[in-house]
Amino acid sequence: MSSINPKYLDLFIKVCERAAFGASKFKGKGDKNAADQAAVDEMRSELNKIDIKGTVVIGEGEMDEAPMLYIGEKVGLGHGEEVDIAVDPLEGTNFIAKNLPNAISVMSVTKKNGLLSAPDTYMEKIAVGKGLPRNLVDLDYTVEKNIHLLSKAKKTSPDKITACILNRPRHEKIIKSLNDLKVKIKFISDGDVTGVISVIDPSSSVDIYLGTGGGPEGVLAAAALDCLGGQMQTRLVLNDNDEIGRAQKLGIKDLKKKYNIEDMIKGDVMFCATGITDGEMLKGIKENGDYFYASTFALHKSQKISKKVTNKVKK
Ligand code: FBP
Repeated sequence: MSSINPKYLDLFIKVCERAAFGASKFKGKGDKNAADQAAVDEMRSELNKIDIKGTVVIGEGEMDEAPMLYIGEKVGLGHGEEVDIAVDPLEGTNFIAKNLPNAISVMSVTKKNGLLSAPDTYMEKIAVGKGLPRNLVDLDYTVEKNIHLLSKAKKTSPDKITACILNRPRHEKIIKSLNDLKVKIKFISDGDVTGVISVIDPSSSVDIYLGTGGGPEGVLAAAALDCLGGQMQTRLVLNDNDEIGRAQKLGIKDLKKKYNIEDMIKGDVMFCATGITDGEMLKGIKENGDYFYASTFALHKSQKISKKVTNKVKK
């Protein structure tokens, strides 16, 4: 596998730190859009200082609707490594607007053509941690079958399994099945990038992630799981001709395809997430005079790097 130059990891950490700092100024101010815009502006300006030939393949929308970090936008100084980039400068717009835990700035990077360009539609997701038989769970199995397979592989019983799911009416059937199996449910109100990653976080007790959330967030979470050895399967949910058209425009031919991690992420990958508000995975931005402190979870697959770093950064 040809690797991304390891020097870039620290530069991408900086990108997420600045985006997180930008958004953090809007903590608790009830203005999602202003927070998002600040994160986008900071992320874009920092990306444009790096010696990469970058293309945004997952971003803030399509060229005609989003002015910054749109899908297809070229970023970087235009020389250096040719990379594809997925960004979510502010994951958890509700969290920041209401000053709730778990808002993050997140991005992932592969070599050119290494990232699935997912449209901003819903996506079904199922994910489990490492050390389990390959392809253990499947979106086409019933919830009962997936939970039984997982509890058997973990040599435990369904009532000892914890499942993480977004608390949404669309998940009523899944939640009923989990309740019938006496599975412990960890509901999240938003932020399924962190939700999916929790299956592989030793400090969390989550065994499985289930449910439907954003497509871009699905690919970002897949990048982290790829570095850490978790398993994930996804499938786009395309509800109307507009969504089908958007997927096709991004080159997706098989609209019902089930994507495993290797279908979403090809070759080497880096992943960075910086906390904006305090959360389970990361501490949020803390200001101190002319500086701020930022905590970032940084991963580089080929170098087997998985680290949490807290940096003191000049404002
Ligand atoms: P935003 O940061 O764009 O608001 O997304 C938050 C989020 O909770 C994602 O983590 C998740 O994938 C998606 O929204 C779920 O969408 P919905 O709120 O429509 O169920």
